[in-house]
Order: sequence, then structure tokens, then C-alpha cells
Amino acid sequence: MISSLVPRIYERVWRPLWSPLLMAGRRDERAMALQMLAIEPGDSVLDVGCGPGNFTRAFGRASGDGLVVGLDASRTMLEQAVREANPPNVRYVRADAAALPFPDAGFDAVCCFAALYFIEQPLRAIDEIVRVLAPGGRVALLASVVRGPLPASAADAVVRRATGTRMFGRDALTRALAERGLTDVQQRVAGLAQFVSARAEDS
Ligand SMILES: C[S@@+](CC[C@H](N)C(=O)[O-])C[C@H]1O[C@@H](n2cnc3c(N)ncnc32)[C@H](O)[C@@H]1O
Repeated sequence: MISSLVPRIYERVWRPLWSPLLMAGRRDERAMALQMLAIEPGDSVLDVGCGPGNFTRAFGRASGDGLVVGLDASRTMLEQAVREANPPNVRYVRADAAALPFPDAGFDAVCCFAALYFIEQPLRAIDEIVRVLAPGGRVALLASVVRGPLPASAADAVVRRATGTRMFGRDALTRALAERGLTDVQQRVAGLAQFVSARAEDS
């Protein structure tokens, strides 16, 4: 993601190519994100690992005058994000998902799509996502999932060595969210991808 080419082609070429392959033909991720996050007008939304803002902009439109922040570690991805036609309530921040530069409980919804498997410390990122979630807030994750006969640890080792990306066990993310006190944890598996949603308890 550090080259300047990938950010330019990511949204319109790269992602439309690999996403249906990974997700057994599914192409409705934006609708799924919006449904899982249940964004209301005025909600504040954080998009962790936002890349060129391909989901962030949709969140901006859904939240109307709420603040929507796209966060990414890559300068070139964020440069592409700000080149796009962003709604006026969208801002971008360069930071590490494992150390979110925000106070506790500041966001009504937090999305992390197609980024956890790149993040060096994914459980630390989940700690941070839960920390910044307001009471009653919603979280939506899209990540890899191990299918088939190989144990999760073996599949992860093989894929990580070949591609540098992590494979999560079937219940690794649902368990991580439940252990951190989130409720209504739900998972949908499509191909080698898992969509996971959950909510923070109301205060
Ligand atoms: C495949 S893109 C996902 C973009 C968008 N969310 C989507 O679903 O299409 C993954 C992004 O995660 C970012 N990323 C990787 N590790 C990160 C970290 N530790 N903190 C923040 N962003 C990170 C990369 O820079 C990249 O832009």
C-alpha cells in the first residue's frame, strides 16, 4: 500500500477484482456496512483502515452533518482519499489503528473493513475500536476467515508466509468482541471473508 499506484487504482480496479473472488461473488459490501452500522443522521463515524475513502464517503452521506473520520496509516492512500469528492462532514487522519488518537466513547459507529488482516496487532486494534465506541455504538468488521480442513493456525501460517496477510479463525473476531463486553455479536461468512457486527451496551 506504500506505492502511489495502488491508491490510484485501488477503488475502481483492484478492489472490484479481488473482492468477489474472496467473498464468493458478493458485491454488496457497502450496503452491508451501512446496514451493520445503522448510521443515523448526526452520528459520528470512524472508518479504520479507510484506504482511499471508498466506504468513508458513503458513511459521510449517511450521517449528514455528523462527523465522519477516515483513518489510515498510509500517506498515499490518504492523499488519494482527499482527492476524491468527499462530503463536507468527512475528515481524514493518518494514524495507527493500534493507537487511535481519539478519546474514549467518541464514535457512534466504527467500521474496519479489509484492514484487520494487514494490521500487526489486530487484537490491539480491536481494543482501540471498542474503547472509542460510545454506549449503544455499533461496530462492523470485514476480515478473512479460515475455511476447510486445515486448523486455523496452520492456514494462517501458510497464507501469511505467501501473502503477508493474516487468516482469522472462525470465532476469533466474534469472541474478541464478546470478551470486550460487546453484545448482539453477529457473523456472516462468505467465501474466505467474514462480516462481524456488534454493539456496545447502552449506558
Ligand atoms: C485493503 S485497504 C482497505 C480499504 C477499505 N477499508 C476497503 O474496505 O476497501 C487496507 C488499508 O488498511 C491500512 N492499514 C494497514 N495497517 C494499518 C494500521 N496499522 N493502521 C491503520 N491503517 C492500516 C492500509 O494502509 C490500507 O489502506
